Amino acid sequence: MIKYWGKENKELIIPMNNSLSLTLDAFYTETMVTFSKDYLADSFYLDGQQQDEKATKKVSRFLDLVRQKANCSLFASVESHNFVPTAAGLASSASGLAALAGACNEALTLDLSPSALSRLARRGSGSACRSIFGGFVEWEKGSDDASSQAVPILSDHWEEELAMIFILIDDQQKEVSSRDGMERTVETSAFYDGWLSSVNDDLKEAKAAIADKNFQALGAVAEANALKMHGTTLAANPPFTYWSPDSLKAMNLVRHIRQTGVPCYFTMDAGPNVKVLCQKSEVPAIMATLETQFSKDRLTCAYSGPGLTILETEVNK
Ligand code: ADP
Ligand code: DP6
Ligand code: CO
Repeated sequence: MIKYWGKENKELIIPMNNSLSLTLDAFYTETMVTFSKDYLADSFYLDGQQQDEKATKKVSRFLDLVRQKANCSLFASVESHNFVPTAAGLASSASGLAALAGACNEALTLDLSPSALSRLARRGSGSACRSIFGGFVEWEKGSDDASSQAVPILSDHWEEELAMIFILIDDQQKEVSSRDGMERTVETSAFYDGWLSSVNDDLKEAKAAIADKNFQALGAVAEANALKMHGTTLAANPPFTYWSPDSLKAMNLVRHIRQTGVPCYFTMDAGPNVKVLCQKSEVPAIMATLETQFSKDRLTCAYSGPGLTILETEVNK
């Protein structure tokens, strides 16, 4: 709803600004981690495929943080399934790293509190700190490792009345990762100051809208905030954009639906896919119009969902 875009501290992943998201039921990750003295190295399987050295190293670096906390030196096997396209701007790093943090906490019986898990997940991918929790979540930027964490936002179950329709434009891996995109933007974009000086007002508006259950106010500020974030990339050096022609087509269609009197607003993350925030009751009408321009198999409706969920734990035999 209000984007995380830029790091104050890259090593610890302390963000430049607070951000706010809605955790969804669709697009999730299932991850199993096993630590064992039988392993001679870490291994990482994603969707049944053993990952290359670079991807495995990224996971290993996260595992090192966990091993340090647990005072453990065992290697691990990580088997993960993304029920979300990976690296396409659909928040696979948020679900993937939240799942990995949760699985490690179980595997090494670290007994971390939800807040401590949020801080741990943050070290893997910033957006993952929010995905530990369900519903509306704010990431409080804090100022150091101990204070930068997500907190659920009280909303009196209002999120249960909302929906997010995904218009899948492209599920392939993006050219510029979120990490590289935000770094380039912070370092070079002439528009980044404008982003930073206005994002806190957007956040205040979004939180007030949630407190008031004011759908149009939340949608309007979320849409404007997403456009502002994407605007910053155009003034980076070298400039870039996550948009494709079909992203614009989708955004225009959402504006058109809104003009016909059905409230709905779009948002986009670091990728070309467009997400439409609406009220549950309007889903059939909005879907019907979206289907006039996008094929049914490119449309997915998601609802508010839970955060980290432990499916099973196997105790050492
Ligand atoms: P996205 O928009 O999908 O979040 P990012 O560029 O932020 O894209 O992050 C993609 C990266 O997140 C992947 O290259 C990988 O390093 C990591 N990632 C995604 N899914 C998983 C997973 N299930 N387990 C571990 N790491 C993952
Ligand atoms: C555009 O959390 O994927 O989706 O912390 O470098 O792993 P890293 O980046 P990531 O960035 C997400 C950016 C965003 C906006 C958001 O999720 O708030
Ligand atoms: Co990401």
